[in-house]
Amino acid sequence: MDNYLPVKIYTARVKQNNATLQKLFSLFPKEDIYFELTNNGLVIHIKELDFFNFKRHIFSLAKNSNSDTAKLLNLILYNIEKIKSYGLKGRKRLYVGYNKERKVKNREEKEKIRGIYYYAQGHNFPKQNNKVPDEFINKIIVGDSEEVLKKLPDNCIDLIFTSPPYNFGLEYENHKDGVNWNEYFNKLFAIFKECIRVLKYGGRIIVNVQPLFSDYIPIHHIISDFFIKNKLIWKGEILWDKHNYNCKYTAWGSWKSPSNPYLKYTWEFLEIFCKGDLRHSGNWKMADITGDEFKKWVYARWDIAPEYNMKKYGHPAMFPEPLVERVLKLFSFKGDIVLDPFNGVGTTTAVAKRLSRSYIGIDISEEYCKKAEDRVKNTQVNTSLF
Ligand SMILES: C[S@@+](CC[C@H](N)C(=O)[O-])C[C@H]1O[C@@H](n2cnc3c(N)ncnc32)[C@H](O)[C@@H]1O
Repeated sequence: MDNYLPVKIYTARVKQNNATLQKLFSLFPKEDIYFELTNNGLVIHIKELDFFNFKRHIFSLAKNSNSDTAKLLNLILYNIEKIKSYGLKGRKRLYVGYNKERKVKNREEKEKIRGIYYYAQGHNFPKQNNKVPDEFINKIIVGDSEEVLKKLPDNCIDLIFTSPPYNFGLEYENHKDGVNWNEYFNKLFAIFKECIRVLKYGGRIIVNVQPLFSDYIPIHHIISDFFIKNKLIWKGEILWDKHNYNCKYTAWGSWKSPSNPYLKYTWEFLEIFCKGDLRHSGNWKMADITGDEFKKWVYARWDIAPEYNMKKYGHPAMFPEPLVERVLKLFSFKGDIVLDPFNGVGTTTAVAKRLSRSYIGIDISEEYCKKAEDRVKNTQVNTSLF
């Protein structure tokens, strides 16, 4: 039969185990999987399979068999389990044709009709990128980002990664958190306007936010709407799952009644936007992400514990370093210039230094900036990455 994946198993034990094999394979449709004995073993022809059901039957048959038969059954399981490329259809793994299977025919034509990121078309972003003046490179700067950023030229930053105050009412050293929402967004957007201007063509801005669910303010959507209206391309969204089940908002709303249940979240959002182009140019030799990291991190739900050292740094809302590390390695090259306009005690800038990026960190608090300076000073460049 055509269109099956042959799995060849070389073993001497097959003939005397034919009855067990017949029994096992009779449990699955022949159109999905069947076997043939050969001179030196067997070939399993496989098209699709409810793998976990198959595994369950193997275990149960092996349990009631002699050791020879059990070994053969385990060998079969091992050979099928090690096939790592397959598609999924319900409970079944598809071993054949899964990468050709497309529900949508003429996909590219249809994409043209729909209009890819239509909202960002007709932008006027200049393509000419500029150098950051030396006086700003690798600096922690005290000040209001809206003002400080005005001193930077257009199109000079490769990546902005930041987490603004969320307006929850936290105790920052020199920033009033918890103001009227209009006031909050006006200030935030004035800073983000400057961020867009200083971002290179092909640069990215990634904003970490958590909505204030108890005020029913979807900050992440409002911020995304701002960037979309300003013609940046929405590249995607990462769910940063902190698994903080003990988070403060433990109210249940209308307990056991649909009248007004309260939804609970253990994650925050990272909204990712690109200026002008989804591609960020750079020398591939300056990429420092490993294959395993890439495979794992493009799956856009990241399980990372919150930062536990906030008391030590005296700051109420810090990034954990692994979060910054992932963002920097996935979205920037070594040597790129990374900016954090709400740098706090300098997590972005310290990790940028460790990973051989240049950095600029701005914060309105002198005290936080001093801590950020110390942190950067005490951070070693990770030479094992070279
Ligand atoms: C959520 S914290 C960022 C913490 C940072 N990610 C870290 O790991 O330390 C937000 C920071 O924004 C700063 N900030 C508030 N308004 C600012 C402004 N207008 N310009 C610069 N920084 C500001 C606050 O002082 C606070 O440190």
